[in-house]
Amino acid sequence: MRTTSGQLDPADPLTPLLTRHSLGGKHLGEPGPDDAALARMVQVALRAPDHAGLVPWRLAVVRGASRERLGALFAEAARDAGKPEADAALDVERARRAPVTVALIARIDLGHPQVPAHEQWIAVGGALANFLNAAHLLGWAGKMLSGHKARHARVQAAFCGPGETLVGWITLGTPQRAVQARARAAAGRALMSDW
Ligand SMILES: Cc1cc2nc3c(=O)[nH]c(=O)nc-3n(C[C@H](O)[C@H](O)[C@H](O)COP(=O)(O)O)c2cc1C
Repeated sequence: MRTTSGQLDPADPLTPLLTRHSLGGKHLGEPGPDDAALARMVQVALRAPDHAGLVPWRLAVVRGASRERLGALFAEAARDAGKPEADAALDVERARRAPVTVALIARIDLGHPQVPAHEQWIAVGGALANFLNAAHLLGWAGKMLSGHKARHARVQAAFCGPGETLVGWITLGTPQRAVQARARAAAGRALMSDW
């Protein structure tokens, strides 16, 4: 809730959630979350609603030297998309920049007798939202990213096993500038009405 002056009310228990927003790679610095912090964020991701507890997702952490491998893959995807060499180099730089990058991989069981695919995708989204909120509440910043490279066959193959889909990557690090709450454009729309 906002106070009469338009500021978020620090006493409102929802204010920490209302202040989460994404921060791009150029505003992320060292350090990134360590194993203990990542494990806590996963615990919160596991609290998302999940029909039948399928946990239709997993995470793969890219950090340290692995960032070079990710950069090489990004460059390959950029070249295959017909991008100029300068753009491919920019994609390599993007892979290097975030201290920690966490790939989000969905594992949707299309033949599940009880839980249709759309419900499993919702569970993936819920886990992502909880993970990002946990990161924010612990003081980290970052952004969920995908783009054409996430759908590139070699990139998908590098992260996924059979039946899995690479959704994209969550970049994570220490915010290098103040994270300011932004209102959603949809805030003025009627998202809820009586039925
Ligand atoms: C699955 C998924 C993939 C996304 N991919 C991209 C992307 O490739 N590039 C981008 O700029 N934003 C992408 N976004 C949106 C950002 O992560 C972010 O939510 C958006 O910029 C709004 O910013 P906010 O989180 O501060 O409200 C993606 C979001 C989701 C959920």
